[in-house]
Amino acid sequence: MASLKVDFPLILVNLKTYREATGEKAVKLAVVAEEVSKRTGVSIAVAPQAIDLRMVVEATEAPVFAQHIDPVGYGKYTGHVLPEAVADAGCAGTLISHSERRLKLDAIEATVKRAKEVSLLPVVCVDTPERGRAVAPFGPDAVAIEPPELIGTGIPVSKARPEVVSGAVEAVKAIDPRVKVLCGAGITSGEDVAAAMKLGAEGVLVASGVVKAEDPYGVLMDLAKAMRR
Ligand code: G3P
Repeated sequence: MASLKVDFPLILVNLKTYREATGEKAVKLAVVAEEVSKRTGVSIAVAPQAIDLRMVVEATEAPVFAQHIDPVGYGKYTGHVLPEAVADAGCAGTLISHSERRLKLDAIEATVKRAKEVSLLPVVCVDTPERGRAVAPFGPDAVAIEPPELIGTGIPVSKARPEVVSGAVEAVKAIDPRVKVLCGAGITSGEDVAAAMKLGAEGVLVASGVVKAEDPYGVLMDLAKAMRR
């Protein structure tokens, strides 16, 4: 029952809608994340699809994030993801405005507020340092910088666009030094993680490099060990 705490530096594994990470396969990956986390002491969370959240929470100790919530409350909101339901399922946090589920600025602000009201840790995704500067005042626990063109390419943001990572760290910390900065897109190895940490990131948001790997355990071990250094 998702008892491991979210800590920084953090590896947040987004399971998206990948076939390799849907249903029981989401549970399997979360078990792998739990094992690697326990062996290395590095915090590793997973973000399954909404339909899989409760099952993953109940089957593993890994902290679980939603991929999205809506800024609604109980009532007439057919098809929305209710923050209270995600919190009641035992989730630790939520992604907000992932580049594959982009929200406007006012919706991001409202969603961060709703997440905090139900004690979900909000991680807001942005594509540029400027956008990081714009969302930092909303008080998310973390901002994740991800240039969309590198997502799923295996070309790591920390090496291909280092200035975007360091720029986001600078922009966000200038507004509120308590907001953590993660980076993501194309991260597949410990080397990519080490480069990200050097640029000031306090963790990574990763998907295909882990989910589509032949050996997700080996990849996560590599990422986690690089984070410990
Ligand atoms: O949410 C993480 C994601 O967008 C990065 O994807 O596949 O490049 O690790 P990927």
